[in-house]
Amino acid sequence: MISRESIDRVFETARVEEVIGEFVTLKKSGSSYKGLSPFVDEKTPSFMVSPVKGIWKDFSTGKGGNVISFLMEHEHYSYPEAIRFLADKYNIAIEETEQSDEQKEAADERESMYLVSKYAQEYFNNLMQNTQKGKAIGLSYFKERGFTDETIETFQLGYCLDEWSAFTDTALKNGYDLEYLESTGLTIVKENGKQYDRFKGRVMFPIHSMSGRVLGFGGRILTNDKKAAKYLNSPESDIYHKSKVLYGIYHAKKTISKEDNCYLVEGYTDVISMYQKGITNVVASSGTALTPDQIRLVKRLTPNMTVLFDGDAAGLRASVRGIDLILEQGMNVKVVTFPDGDDPDSFSKKKTTEELKEYLENNQQDFISFKVSLLMEEAKNDPIKKAGLIRDIVMSISKIPDSIKQEIYIQECVRMMDISETVLFNELAQMMDKKSRDAERKPSTAQPRMSIASSNKNKVTGGISSSNATGDMPDDAAFQEMMLAQESGVKGTKGQASAKALPKTNELELYESEIIKILLLYGNHEVSFVDWIEEHDKNGKVVMVKEEYTNTVCHELFLQLQDDEIEFTHPIFQKIYKEISYQINQEEKLLLDQLTSHPDQEISREVTHILMDDERYTLSRWESKEIEVAQKTDVLQKLVQDVILNLRRVLIDLKVKELMHEITDEEKRVEALQEVMSYTQLKTLLFEKLYRVV
Ligand code: CTP
Ligand code: MN
Repeated sequence: MISRESIDRVFETARVEEVIGEFVTLKKSGSSYKGLSPFVDEKTPSFMVSPVKGIWKDFSTGKGGNVISFLMEHEHYSYPEAIRFLADKYNIAIEETEQSDEQKEAADERESMYLVSKYAQEYFNNLMQNTQKGKAIGLSYFKERGFTDETIETFQLGYCLDEWSAFTDTALKNGYDLEYLESTGLTIVKENGKQYDRFKGRVMFPIHSMSGRVLGFGGRILTNDKKAAKYLNSPESDIYHKSKVLYGIYHAKKTISKEDNCYLVEGYTDVISMYQKGITNVVASSGTALTPDQIRLVKRLTPNMTVLFDGDAAGLRASVRGIDLILEQGMNVKVVTFPDGDDPDSFSKKKTTEELKEYLENNQQDFISFKVSLLMEEAKNDPIKKAGLIRDIVMSISKIPDSIKQEIYIQECVRMMDISETVLFNELAQMMDKKSRDAERKPSTAQPRMSIASSNKNKVTGGISSSNATGDMPDDAAFQEMMLAQESGVKGTKGQASAKALPKTNELELYESEIIKILLLYGNHEVSFVDWIEEHDKNGKVVMVKEEYTNTVCHELFLQLQDDEIEFTHPIFQKIYKEISYQINQEEKLLLDQLTSHPDQEISREVTHILMDDERYTLSRWESKEIEVAQKTDVLQKLVQDVILNLRRVLIDLKVKELMHEITDEEKRVEALQEVMSYTQLKTLLFEKLYRVV
């Protein structure tokens, strides 16, 4: 763990406009900067950076946050990676904390393995570029394959001499530990203690993590030796998990998210050749079927994947199976096949960039249709095969988590396979039924499913039940909640976590968000408030007396909410409010930058959104300078008191609704009725107050 102090130092030092300026061309505009969105192609700037608040917002995509979340969005760093990137940029030493000795040791070990891998990559590249043998053998091989100098540098390709331990010896001489040379697999230590270079005589393809660290290598043999493996890869290690990396992801990530699509190919050379031709959103599974971890890696960047298949038909059928897994992850899968005998590497070499792009565009097929046409070919005149095929296709469709998509595919299959809709839906229903029964057996992974047949006129057998966010509640509670929601137009009641899934129209949520907004925008403003208190006049009669006092907005809201023990229902507002009350208690005031730089990304993101929404007025002012932003500060007092009173009113309404249900219960009736009465009185009082304040 990076220490809190180090993180704070990074946030104090990093200047949001400086960091973002490295990636986006920014122009000063008033107190802010503006630029073209780095996430979409646009002609009018909708991207804003506020140096004063230390935050940014992209109005085209709705993304926004602090300097860290920019690096996470744009560079796809993890949180600690982003911190380290900034620490590096600003020369801040990072302290690690809260690590046990073992953790420290493990982290140190992994760090050493990264270092030795980085060293090896530089060594192999340097050797290839600058030595006689390297140039004659390694470099000339890559040149022969048509790779340019630029490509070779981009992918940091290299060569390992055809000598027993040339690399290992040099690494040891340069102070690298044998322990890490061995644990990364670069060196093989035999029982007799002899050391060998694993990649002896091979050209080297470094494999990078999403953030660009070298994790391992693929090494290609240069001879036609049938006994030796064509490619040799680094063994599994603490830093290299084959099932969790995709070759090319580091170089492809930016275009994948920009183009909103990822091309998947088989091998190293496919990635590199496509990249060189200008198709840079391409990654390789390295010859095996994709794993769920690899799919998730892509899914962070885009929900769309286009799988590129080699021309040979035998390989096709085997690869098709692996694709169900991609569907299961909820990704949209398209397929492109190449002419017989071609793989993406050889094909792209024969074409110009334009031709290649055109080919990919014109030949992409939706996966399900592709599978149908591929398998129909052989099953055409064989009813038994055809039945098997139908089951196979429907199985693929049942993996798709989106019910609307499922239905579209069923229609497509009806057309392509010349088969009745009813049969297909029946098959699907049975499969889903089995799936949900399987899921019930292991409830931890059970996923509530929507009805797939609701809009279909054919009857569907099987127990596909419709459910929603309340699916995991006991039946009667769910029912009660629905009743309440219908009566009041407000879904969810106080204190229920299910508030997360509620629509924005929720009245309670509206006032909660209003309070958070007021706190963030005006929390530290001093405002004079008015209250009415009961006093007895000289005749002993109760009168309401007006009292004026000043307070900061955050203290006032805090006290008011505390008085009534009001808790927020929406999880994110709850979190933000908790942070704010902590600050008020500790610091006597609100520290915005601690919220925008909060390690909990949910908090920093939401806070940024709220703060930047205010900034939005500035954005429109760029175009027409005349527009004045209303001086909200003048009406702050009313804003604060109204929101509190309104929140109370909604809470009382909810409470009353709740009690009304209890009235139907014989045992609780009397007590409930009494409570309803006192709440109603409270509400009347509230309105009086609201009226007076207004
Ligand atoms: N592969 C591997 N080990 C092997 C063979 C293949 O790891 N023994 C992986 C590599 O990632 C390789 C991919 O599977 O890039 C595809 O294999 P193949 O089609 O045989 O290689 P190409 O990429 O076409 O390699 P080349 O063009 O260099 O022959
Ligand atoms: Mn090839």
